[in-house]
Amino acid sequence: MIPVAALTPFEARIEHAELAETIARWDEAYHGKDAPEVPDDVYDGAKRRLAGIEERFPELAAKSPLKDKVGAAPSDGFGKLVHAVPMLSLDNAFTPEDVAEFDAKVRRFLGLDGEAPLAYVAEPKIDGLSISLRYEGGTFVSAATRGDGAEGEDVTRNLETFPETMLPRTLGADAPAVIEIRGEVYMTKADFLALNRRQEAAGEKVFANPRNAAAGSLRQLDPGITASRPLSLFAYAMGEASSPPAPSHWLYLERLRAWGFTVNPLIRRCDGIAGLLAAYESLSEARAELPYDIDGIVYKVDDIGLQKRLGFVSRSPRWAIAHKFPAEQATTLLEAIDIQVGRTGALTPVARLTPVNVGGVVVSNATLHNEDEIARKDVRIGDTVIVQRAGDVIPQIVGVVPGKPRGPTSFVYPEVCPVCGAHAVRPEGEVIRRCTGGLTCEAQAKERLKHFVSRGAFDIEGLGDKNIEFLWERGWVRSPADIFRLKARNDAEMLQKLENFEGWGKRSTEKLFESIRTRARMGLERFIFALGIRQIGEATAKRLARHYVTLESWRAAMTEEAKEELTSIEDIGPSVAGDLLDFFKESHNAAALDDLVAAMTELGGGVGDAKVIESSASPVAGKAVVFTGTLATMTRPEAKARAEALGAKVVGSVSKKTDYVVVGADAGSKAAEAAKLGVAILSEQEWLALTGG
Ligand code: IVH
Repeated sequence: MIPVAALTPFEARIEHAELAETIARWDEAYHGKDAPEVPDDVYDGAKRRLAGIEERFPELAAKSPLKDKVGAAPSDGFGKLVHAVPMLSLDNAFTPEDVAEFDAKVRRFLGLDGEAPLAYVAEPKIDGLSISLRYEGGTFVSAATRGDGAEGEDVTRNLETFPETMLPRTLGADAPAVIEIRGEVYMTKADFLALNRRQEAAGEKVFANPRNAAAGSLRQLDPGITASRPLSLFAYAMGEASSPPAPSHWLYLERLRAWGFTVNPLIRRCDGIAGLLAAYESLSEARAELPYDIDGIVYKVDDIGLQKRLGFVSRSPRWAIAHKFPAEQATTLLEAIDIQVGRTGALTPVARLTPVNVGGVVVSNATLHNEDEIARKDVRIGDTVIVQRAGDVIPQIVGVVPGKPRGPTSFVYPEVCPVCGAHAVRPEGEVIRRCTGGLTCEAQAKERLKHFVSRGAFDIEGLGDKNIEFLWERGWVRSPADIFRLKARNDAEMLQKLENFEGWGKRSTEKLFESIRTRARMGLERFIFALGIRQIGEATAKRLARHYVTLESWRAAMTEEAKEELTSIEDIGPSVAGDLLDFFKESHNAAALDDLVAAMTELGGGVGDAKVIESSASPVAGKAVVFTGTLATMTRPEAKARAEALGAKVVGSVSKKTDYVVVGADAGSKAAEAAKLGVAILSEQEWLALTGG
């Protein structure tokens, strides 16, 4: 979510209108029908956001239909909390070269030469789950899990069971008015083993590793259970802060300690790459002896001002990186090879293994990548194989253990789809064999549905894999549009209503319908991503949404003639463009899309552009910009990144299609070229004024 301070008046107006309408509906449901639609904290979060917007744009407050309203609804289950500052992930480095490249990139971005001093902080990467703790007026008010990074689950009541020595309820008088302190909830290895012993004795579920145990213990609807579990917490980062609590990360950690948090004692301040690598070595040696699991080391630029300048790319900060420890390995028996069919028809071989502990995690499935890999390694059913696990990636088969008895025959890869029986073809030059059944293949259709409702897509709570399977089997949900007609379908039933089936229940069915209804209005970027088009991940979907702004203009542009425009968008090459156009060439895809939009509209929604207005509303969105000469306030990569964040396209040379040429000191031929072509020339100051920098 865009911080209120960064909203343009246009964005504010749209968001204000939407929020006011939503809150009015919630009020009506709560007071009028005695049927609250959302939990307290969601309501409160929306009210807070609305108040923030009105404070900055008082003219909107005057029009607000909701003044002096109160609202509070009881809730079980977790509410959602929006992170004022998104909770991001980290890019990974695996080798010293990757670390050197990270350092070089940071320096290039900041315009520092290789010799200039640059302080980093190196911290153990704790293997737990991240948490955001919000303090207002120095008092603990809420705690949220990371969730999808934009909003997490409200686990305040669970965190309240932590002792004061782990979670201070008040910070010192020197705390900013608002501060979000972030860190990792984890379980020590000893606590994990003891917990599993207790669980086993009680006939309860045992956990595969300390990380799962920590997550399972924190995400309990009954805080009493959380209280009985041995959780620990390290603080290490910051979310929103009304005023900067320290000029450097190192000093921030010191303040965290002073406020009563536990900060990892192995954190070091380092200079340059050599310092970072030394920290890595010493931590690798200590790793096995540490009382908790770590999966690497995090390097952070120490200076907070520099962190701000470096900013973010996609979902990770430019100012930090995780240097991962090597993968853990083990050997076990390969019992079977199953072929799975994915949403784009790709056949993937999955190894079924005799369960084995790999660095603290029990593994029973691993990927074998593709048919060439199986052939190259000559992996056979019955072989003893090496299985490897690195971080969050799917475990993989490295190869056959030499000297052990071999399986009798080489594996024969199927040439027909194991699910629908259609031909599975492998185009020349490609490694992946694909089922040609399209949506007539049950596996593909189901996988597309699962993708459609998944987190980064429509994010429909209560429609997990199991429920999709169930609804598919009943024939109730066979396409995305069916999801939006599910309630009507259920209402029309006499005896076969969903709530009568085991595992559904009235309450959860109602919750599901509600969550579907709220998704009937959807931003274009998630909508595009949800379609599950080959090669269109979240980042590309976002770029498309930003570029085309509305569903209509995007669809209108998905033709061969518009290919050139398509490939002019950053990161979209001929191959991605080809997959997009192929998708639209299939008439059944176009029909499914029409049907989906119709079903969403019937529920009072549609595909809005609310989530992508950020860049289209910026004055430089979609403009082609050339930077030339030496800029005074920022380096070239920094200028490029900022311009792109505003939706501009930064190009290298001046042409008639260029919208702006921004000239720094000693600009050469490009400025002259711009003058000749009549392209607008801006000074650096004018550019900053235009872009609000
Ligand atoms: S900093 C903007 N520091 O790693 C960067 N993360 O891949 C915020 N983690 O979700 C993260 N130890 O759960 C940071 N010392 C540490 C960490 C750490 C563990 C986890 C955290 C985060 C993930 C990022």
